[in-house]
Parts: sequence; C-alpha cells; structure tokens
Amino acid sequence: MKDSVKDDILEILIPETDIRTKVGELASRINADYRDKNPVFISVLKGSVIFLSDLMKNVDIRSSLDFIAVSSYEGDTESTGVVKLEMDLRESIEGRHVILVEDIVDTGLTMDYLKHNFMTRRPASFNICALLTKPERTRIKVDIAYKGFEIPDKFVVGYGLDYAECYRNLPFVATLRPEIYRKVK
Ligand code: IMP
Repeated sequence: MKDSVKDDILEILIPETDIRTKVGELASRINADYRDKNPVFISVLKGSVIFLSDLMKNVDIRSSLDFIAVSSYEGDTESTGVVKLEMDLRESIEGRHVILVEDIVDTGLTMDYLKHNFMTRRPASFNICALLTKPERTRIKVDIAYKGFEIPDKFVVGYGLDYAECYRNLPFVATLRPEIYRKVK
C-alpha cells in the first residue's frame, strides 16, 4: 500500500461537490420536516460519522445526537449476514423523533435490525437517512425517508466508508484498485 490513500483509488463514483450539494438538500428537507420536533440524530458507528457531521452542520433546528455501533462485516467486503449490537445508545428514545443516520444501506439487514430494535423502545417517530443505497443488493426492503445516492453493486470507500478500517478520510466515494482488496488485510 502506498502512503497516500488517493493512490489506491480506481474510480471516483461520487465527487465531493455532488456530496456537498446532496447533503445540503437532505438537511433542508429535515429542517422543514422536523421543525419544533427536537429530533435525535442517531449515527451508526463508524461509517456514518463524516456524513452525520456534514449533515448536522446544515441542520438549523433544535436537535440532539446519540451513537450506536453494530457490526456485520468483520473487515471484509461481504456481510456475514448476522448483525451484532456492539454499543448501545446513551439516552432513551422513548417519545423522541428518531432520525437514524447511516452511510450505506447494502442488503438492508442492518437497518431492518435497528428499526425493529428501536421500535421496541417506543419512539414518537422513526426515519432513516442514508447517504448511499445499493438497490441490486437489497435482501430486506427498508423504507429510507432521506436517501442520498443509489450506487451500483460495487464495494466503495471514502466519506466515512472503510475497507479494513482504512480510507474513511477520503472526501469522495470511490472504488479501489482490485489488488488493494487482496493486499490490505
Ligand atoms: P447491510 O446490513 O448489508 O445493509 O450493510 C450495512 C453496512 O455494511 C454498512 O453500514 C457498511 O458498514 C457496510 N457496507 C456495505 N456496503 C459497503 C461498501 O460498499 N463499502 C463499505 N462498507 C459497506
């Protein structure tokens, strides 16, 4: 692996400027829909933190923030299909308007798991905001109220998304050169 992560890029799928515009649009919709509702943004660690921080900077309504961590990938490019709760929320969401912020919805298993888990906690409402979706990979259909971009069935990195914990700091969404997937383990 070379020292600059940019050297490992094969193709930029979504440039930084397109992401910025889309995040602004999503935030405007949230501002309009959640005025006077004091929603809680729940960020799914770790992939959604960059998206969440840009989104929240564009949101101008009263709101709060919490984090949850789940795993299903274990460092490779294929989901294990088993979702595991690694870290729970700090605050109760009972009676709160929840906006679950996710980097990418791939098979839908993670969002489906979290939706069912959260509904047992009796929130006032529940919506998902996801930057990316891969429609060709859907195994469980989940309703995504705030959707950024649909992408093809390719493993992508950047803007929070990792491969083997690397590449989250890229400001765009990209694919990696094929040899990288074999080298970084
Ligand atoms: P799902 O449960 O299959 O929908 O997978 C959701 C999780 O898988 C996301 O939160 C990501 O952490 C990870 N994931 C899915 N596709 C990609 C990808 O293309 N790049 C990086 N991570 C991915």
